[in-house]
Amino acid sequence: MAPLSVAFISMRMPPSFDKKDHGLRTLRIAAYGGLIFGTYSDQTEPLEDYLGPHSLSQIQRLLVQRKPKVIGYLRQKIPGNWKLYNENVRDPYHGSLLHTFQVSFGLQTPAMKGGIKMDKDGKNTWNHSILSADDNKHQGDLAAAYSGTDKFNPGLKLNDPSLAQVKLDLDDNIKTTILSMFPTLILAQVDNTYAVRHLRPKGPDAVELHITYLGFESDTPEQLQSRLLSVNFIGPSGYISLEDGEALRLVQEGAKMRSGDHAVLEMGGIGVIQDTDYLSQEISIRGFWRHYHRMMAFGLDAGINQQQEPV
Ligand SMILES: [Fe+2]
Repeated sequence: MAPLSVAFISMRMPPSFDKKDHGLRTLRIAAYGGLIFGTYSDQTEPLEDYLGPHSLSQIQRLLVQRKPKVIGYLRQKIPGNWKLYNENVRDPYHGSLLHTFQVSFGLQTPAMKGGIKMDKDGKNTWNHSILSADDNKHQGDLAAAYSGTDKFNPGLKLNDPSLAQVKLDLDDNIKTTILSMFPTLILAQVDNTYAVRHLRPKGPDAVELHITYLGFESDTPEQLQSRLLSVNFIGPSGYISLEDGEALRLVQEGAKMRSGDHAVLEMGGIGVIQDTDYLSQEISIRGFWRHYHRMMAFGLDAGINQQQEPV
């Protein structure tokens, strides 16, 4: 057997090697309202331009005008693609169709005032509903519209109605705010429950939703108790959002079986992607996809943005 030869390799690098050229990729960081954003791209515009005026004003409204403090966390793994969750939070009208709890107890109805406001790219969306004196004027119409379904039963009452009778602690009558910032951040106000939702994709078939619930330094013990009570709306077993997780699973399964097909958005599926002052819309889903296509350089922009029907 030939003797083993041992080679000693010099660890000295050649003169042309410069450590500056071989470091970790630098993450650009910027903060607004206590939220920290990061990007590896040096092409991304300054944060405030990226977020747009509606995101900035809602972050101010929800996180800056009072000093927030964390009151709890929830984490939920959903068997669906992260982009489906982005569709879910950009579709405000499903609330009164999917969520029996909301409709049954009059928390959210299709007739509520509100709107959809986007940034210049259509990628960030502020969906909001507004309380008004008219909200309960159409109970008869609702009963007729939901006739034959189990969605609306005006005779149904909660044993503990305090959950559904929340007096808003801001004086602007905005009942819900779902602020979705491309690609993975949502700031949400549902009544007096404030939360940051962060999406962490776990491959094409799953996403983890990390929810951080917020109260405020100025809260009284009663306000804190009220916030903790209404946390029951949202989360993996929340009265409202457990259905969102299941809807994502169903859509994921359906999408896999229809590979190559196109989805049709009936509510706002044609024309210019622009703000609306009503909620029965899913137009900002198109805003999301248009921006996603741009980011991925799919080259499909022309067909989904202009004043023409999509091709
Ligand atoms: Fe929902």
